[in-house]
Amino acid sequence: MDGGGSSAESLATASRELLSRVQSRSARVGIVGQGYVGLPLALVFCEAGFPVIGFDVDPAKVESLRRGESFIRHISPERVARAAAGGKYEATTDFDRLADCDAVIICVPTPLGAHREPDNSYIHRTAEAIAKRLRRGQLVVLESTTYPGTTDEEVLPILRKSGLDTPADFLLAFSPEREDPGNDRFSTRTIPKIVGGVNPPSAEAAAALYGAALEKVVLVSSARVAESSKLLENIFRSVNIALVNELKMTFERMGIDVWEVIEAAKTKPFGFMPFYPGPGLGGHCIPLDPFYLAWKAAEFGTWTRFIELAGEVNTQMPRYVVQRLAQALNEESKAVRGARILVLGLAYKANIDDDRESPSYEIIELLQHAGAEVDYCDPFFPVARKGRKHDLAMASVPCSPEIFARYDAVLVATAHDAFRERELYRDVKLVVDTRNVVAPPAPRGGKGPRRLVKA
Ligand SMILES: NC(=O)c1ccc[n+]([C@@H]2O[C@H](COP(=O)([O-])OP(=O)(O)OC[C@H]3O[C@@H](n4cnc5c(N)ncnc54)[C@H](O)[C@@H]3O)[C@@H](O)[C@H]2O)c1
Repeated sequence: MDGGGSSAESLATASRELLSRVQSRSARVGIVGQGYVGLPLALVFCEAGFPVIGFDVDPAKVESLRRGESFIRHISPERVARAAAGGKYEATTDFDRLADCDAVIICVPTPLGAHREPDNSYIHRTAEAIAKRLRRGQLVVLESTTYPGTTDEEVLPILRKSGLDTPADFLLAFSPEREDPGNDRFSTRTIPKIVGGVNPPSAEAAAALYGAALEKVVLVSSARVAESSKLLENIFRSVNIALVNELKMTFERMGIDVWEVIEAAKTKPFGFMPFYPGPGLGGHCIPLDPFYLAWKAAEFGTWTRFIELAGEVNTQMPRYVVQRLAQALNEESKAVRGARILVLGLAYKANIDDDRESPSYEIIELLQHAGAEVDYCDPFFPVARKGRKHDLAMASVPCSPEIFARYDAVLVATAHDAFRERELYRDVKLVVDTRNVVAPPAPRGGKGPRRLVKA
């Protein structure tokens, strides 16, 4: 490490050089992890004029990106092909290329372990890979969702193994990703970007980089605040979803339709924000991230009871849905064992091809364990993917009224637009709808299922 005077000088030089390269759009941006977060971010930097290298450990993904293909439905292959053909974007598994980058942004997974403990091993491995090639003047930004303190207490010590330090030699910040796949109103470029550095020069450099490619940067005082803000956003959603899920079960006992209650409540023009019940949480964020904070809180001798309670309510929803289905079948004098059941939707949310943590998997497995013959229909998943936790080895059945009519019950788990067509249910005996997408049968025997149960 440099002494005081020369350190200040080298910092000034390194920061100046980086800022000037950012301003001229010649700074090379490396993005580690080319998934749902890293790939759109890479494209946004390319489209803003920066040369970008996308790093990933998955050679198949890298090969397909090199061919200009997209594995994410809402990112068009033309966009990837345009970036690759323009010479601004290249995908690679060669981590030595990290040394070529002026800025390195980390977008790797942050899953939970078997006991709901945070698994930061992907972040650690990436930080080790960067530390081996770290050079003066580089900016490193962590984007993966994690508990407060990860950037300062885990990434920084790993980067220091290089013999370099911040801010004299390199810069380090945290900036949470707020990707919302399938959202037509907001995109990576237009969603405001929170940035917090481990020191002020790092914050400034990261803010300058994002400010050159995205519409709005929100600078906060530290990496810890930036890490915590992401968790607040996701905990807010998890707790409110748990609240409506609990109210759904309560109102159901009272014979009141929670969906109608929400529609009525949301006419209040202030102080209310609607959240909707469902068959359980899904996606890479809401079911996982809150537990990152719950785990870290224990280190400070404190409890996060709302997080635990919301987790408890939300994780029991797939079982609740299966129980409601069993009850509805029972009322038709039919057992779950031997019943033919069609589950609509593997995606965790409407009109996207992301099935991570989707409650549909648990619902299908619970029904299979109870002896039902289960199929699924999802136009976004012609074949069910093998995941870390599930391997259904199933293929989607076609989405048609003739196919739907073959089942004893149809269970709607995802609100894909394709499932809203009333005609689909014209000859279905029983529909259990967890998403309020199926119109009730018209009076006097019009089109629609014979019986509709909301669950
Ligand atoms: N998906 C979302 O909507 C979303 C939104 C906000 C934040 N996040 C957060 O962003 C982070 C990334 O999520 P994602 O959805 O992009 O995950 P993803 O699984 O889609 O992508 C991660 C990519 O990283 C690659 N990878 C794994 N280990 C690697 C390593 N050591 N080096 C390089 N690449 C590696 C994987 O092959 C994969 O392509 C997570 O922390 C997540 O919580 C995700």
